[in-house]
Amino acid sequence: MPNVDISSQSGKDFSGDVLIVPVFSGRERHRLPLAISKVARQVMDESDFKADYLELVPLHHPNGVKDCRWMLLVGLGEEEKVTHNKIRKAVGTAARHSLKKGWKKIGVISPSTSLLDHDEAQAAVVEGALLADYDFTAFKGKPEPKRFETLEVFTNGDDTRKARRRLPQIEAGVAACHRVRDLGNTPAGDLYPESFAEIAQKLAKQHKLGCEVMGPEDLQKGGFNALLAVGQGSARTPRVVKLEYKPKEKAKKHVVLVGKGVCFDSGGLSLKDASGMETMKGDMIGAAIVLATLAACAEAQAPVQVTGIMGLVENMPSGTSYKPGDVLKSRSGKTIEVLNTDAEGRLVLADLLDYASGMGADHVLDFATLTGACVVALGDGVSAVFGTDQKLVERLLDAGSTTGEHLWQLPLVEEYRDSLKSQVADIKNITGHRWGGSITAALFLKDFIKHESWIHVDLAGSWSSAERDYRPHGATGEGPRWLLDWLLA
Ligand code: BES
Ligand code: MN
Ligand code: ZN
Repeated sequence: MPNVDISSQSGKDFSGDVLIVPVFSGRERHRLPLAISKVARQVMDESDFKADYLELVPLHHPNGVKDCRWMLLVGLGEEEKVTHNKIRKAVGTAARHSLKKGWKKIGVISPSTSLLDHDEAQAAVVEGALLADYDFTAFKGKPEPKRFETLEVFTNGDDTRKARRRLPQIEAGVAACHRVRDLGNTPAGDLYPESFAEIAQKLAKQHKLGCEVMGPEDLQKGGFNALLAVGQGSARTPRVVKLEYKPKEKAKKHVVLVGKGVCFDSGGLSLKDASGMETMKGDMIGAAIVLATLAACAEAQAPVQVTGIMGLVENMPSGTSYKPGDVLKSRSGKTIEVLNTDAEGRLVLADLLDYASGMGADHVLDFATLTGACVVALGDGVSAVFGTDQKLVERLLDAGSTTGEHLWQLPLVEEYRDSLKSQVADIKNITGHRWGGSITAALFLKDFIKHESWIHVDLAGSWSSAERDYRPHGATGEGPRWLLDWLLA
């Protein structure tokens, strides 16, 4: 993480690699420091820079701004339509451009507009730049990541105290986002249940979190038979990791976070086809979100108790694999007829949700790259939220809007539960038809949670994306930031 400074200076004396200047379209409107506004106006007079949203113009050694090598104008579009999220994305777009150029000392002018609170705008600037500051090079021959060294934000006289106070929380959220990206981008050859559990143990130690790792024998004793069945085809044995964060003062509430951690999902004997199978290294992103969020809770000293449960397995075809037609006795005692070994996430979660139900918490939330149907429904930029606690669903949707990560509620349509009835067991793991696949998967999970306030988040679409705004190519790292918006409140 670069060294971050928010100062009330104008930025005209900035010395560094690049000064990022967000500008509104419509030239009379911007209240930029004089020397900088002169430069910006000259460019806008050329009429081929309109400051449209996300439009970029780099200028070399701009006149009148002393020691800055480059100035990068980035459009914010019309001032009337400005939002925090647009500022975050515009600054993020300029920051990605700067990062790729290898620029390391970065300055940003915080846009001044009467339509947003100063501190909110400043926070969005910092967050946009820090979220963009990511480069995954661990698997290059020479891992030399491009990263920023310093980030200076200039407010031209506006008060900086509130935004400065928010910095630790912003940095904890960004660090969690980057951690999820790292884990999601790491190949399954390197990140498997055992190695993932070791990473969790290390991080827990650093952050003084409670940490318990259950191996195959513990899981057998604990009755996690559905989870064990999913893992039984792999040479890499399963782990369940339980993490615990407790605040120093009395906790406001107790929340359990459950994560699907399928380190590789080949489909098992119901094998997936080759197209895109490599993306299934990311089928553990739910568990990564749980781990990163717990670390962030410790960093930002959340006022709530948080328990994290990560279900780590590999779903592989082999002579020891579980088979279509098998009936599993889940931890809850309910039996499950497996008709497709590729619907494995819900089997892992069935045991974990039953385990979580016994913890007497106020809320249980699970995170899973659960269904391709979710990608069909919402694309690669939106997570689906299901829940039995409408008040909490709405609070989380708000958190999504605040943090700029898209969440959309889908319904738990009780009538669809009939399609999961099995002839031989208490429930079957697929319906046998394609329609409403995310909903029927959520309804399957609902059978295993004995908790009034339960939230299920399907991340199948949102976990990875092409490069856009502050997002790099690959794992997006979405999840912890909106979760923290609620947990840290
Ligand atoms: N991990 C997949 C879901 C997924 C798909 C995640 C695309 C990310 C991107 C899950 O385990 C799966 O294979 N689901 C099946 C369920 C089906 C067999 C009922 C699916 O969605 O095809
Ligand atoms: Mn699958
Ligand atoms: Zn899966």
